Amino acid sequence: MKLDQHLKNKAMDIVNKKHPVVKKDPYYPVYHIAPPVGLINDPNGWIQWKGTYHLFYQWMPFETGHGAKFWGHVSSKDLINWKDEPIALAPSNWFDKDGCYSGSAISFEDELLLYYTGNVKNNNIRESYQCLAVSKDGRYFEKKGVQIEVPQGYTAHFRDPKVWKEDEQFYMVIGAQNELKEGSVVWFTSNDLKEWQFGGTLATGFGYMWECPDFFSLNGKDILLFSPQGLSASGIHYRNIHQTGYVAGKWDKETNQFTHGEFSELDKGFEFYAPQTTLDENGRRLLFGWMGVPDQNEQLHPTIQHGWLHQLTVPRELILKGGHIYQKPVEELKQLRQNQLQRLELGADDLWEGQIPRASEFILNVRGQNSNILINLFGFLKFKYDSVQRSIQLVRPRMEGTGVEERVALIDQVSEIRCLIDHSSVEVFINEGEIVFTSRIFADPDNYTMSLQASGELTVWELGKM
Ligand code: FRU
Repeated sequence: MKLDQHLKNKAMDIVNKKHPVVKKDPYYPVYHIAPPVGLINDPNGWIQWKGTYHLFYQWMPFETGHGAKFWGHVSSKDLINWKDEPIALAPSNWFDKDGCYSGSAISFEDELLLYYTGNVKNNNIRESYQCLAVSKDGRYFEKKGVQIEVPQGYTAHFRDPKVWKEDEQFYMVIGAQNELKEGSVVWFTSNDLKEWQFGGTLATGFGYMWECPDFFSLNGKDILLFSPQGLSASGIHYRNIHQTGYVAGKWDKETNQFTHGEFSELDKGFEFYAPQTTLDENGRRLLFGWMGVPDQNEQLHPTIQHGWLHQLTVPRELILKGGHIYQKPVEELKQLRQNQLQRLELGADDLWEGQIPRASEFILNVRGQNSNILINLFGFLKFKYDSVQRSIQLVRPRMEGTGVEERVALIDQVSEIRCLIDHSSVEVFINEGEIVFTSRIFADPDNYTMSLQASGELTVWELGKM
């Protein structure tokens, strides 16, 4: 049997054997995408194709660690119910034998094309190839091999192609490290998706490597979204090991000048990285992120005892207001609301204490501008808004076992807090996504308590699929 099929069968054998154990983990999500077994990282190949949403993901089926990645694949008609599809890519060729690394999808002449990075390590020397795989039915993919090699001036840290079409021309951005060991994003262009011309550096300037670039236009601005590595923490900024953020501006392709503003973090939570967007058939710019961070203490995540590690975020719609990206859970997610459990009005300093399911959503519509807000979730996560400092703080116990860790964001006013909870994760959207905190929460699975002190209207729903 060919190696490709052998690897895919071996991965499916493990899924069939171990998924029942994985699913029993009280930390396993019910409405987020998580690995059937093993480790998940970046969302890949995110596209709506012929009416159906397709999402691929970096996947290590054989262990809860990194290594020679596969591309897992799920599809959906409604962004709520996801169907498992056959494994799209296995690391079976000389050009991708140490991992079918991240990449993107594009529709072309009735086919679905996947551009991804072939990761190769021989005697610990890294090689990197941008590769193509093609499908007629969106289920089975045929590899077409190497399309682009690393151009002069860059190291083998050259990966994660994101492809798009604009004015009858194709473009690709790739995350890179230049020979000065600076993080960069480079671009290529093509008339026919066959020959690619190197365009040059789109942006560079800080950190030692920029991963998973995405480039798109939002409300008239050109946005470069990427995950830089090597930024040091500075006050309330860059507190995770690696960051994800964006710059907004205008790219003049003729002169290759990308004039843009400052880098801002997209998400202020503990676990968020390597997001990818697509434009769906309704014209929405939709994003999935990885709810994890590379090089984080991942072996301390308790889910590895059940044979799985990490998950993705919910799909979010991006909106640009005043030069700032807002992230909103897609409208479809409201269909997850099964039961409205609470609707109550809290006066100034009122304290509500209750129990909420481990898959739930709450919205607090804040009344008045000057009251503090305190939320305690499952005796684990604390959310604090200080109306004098105008700061929001998210605090949780450190995974290393002692003390707490926190993430902080500054905000002028809090009018709404919307929180999506799914067993071991939380996504907090403030003011319709002006600020978002995405984090894992490994609270005692039998703890359902929540307390909230605020002034406003609180609504709580139980979430689940029909
Ligand atoms: C980001 C990343 C990508 C790479 C992939 C490998 O998390 O390191 O740069 O393609 O993960 O799984």
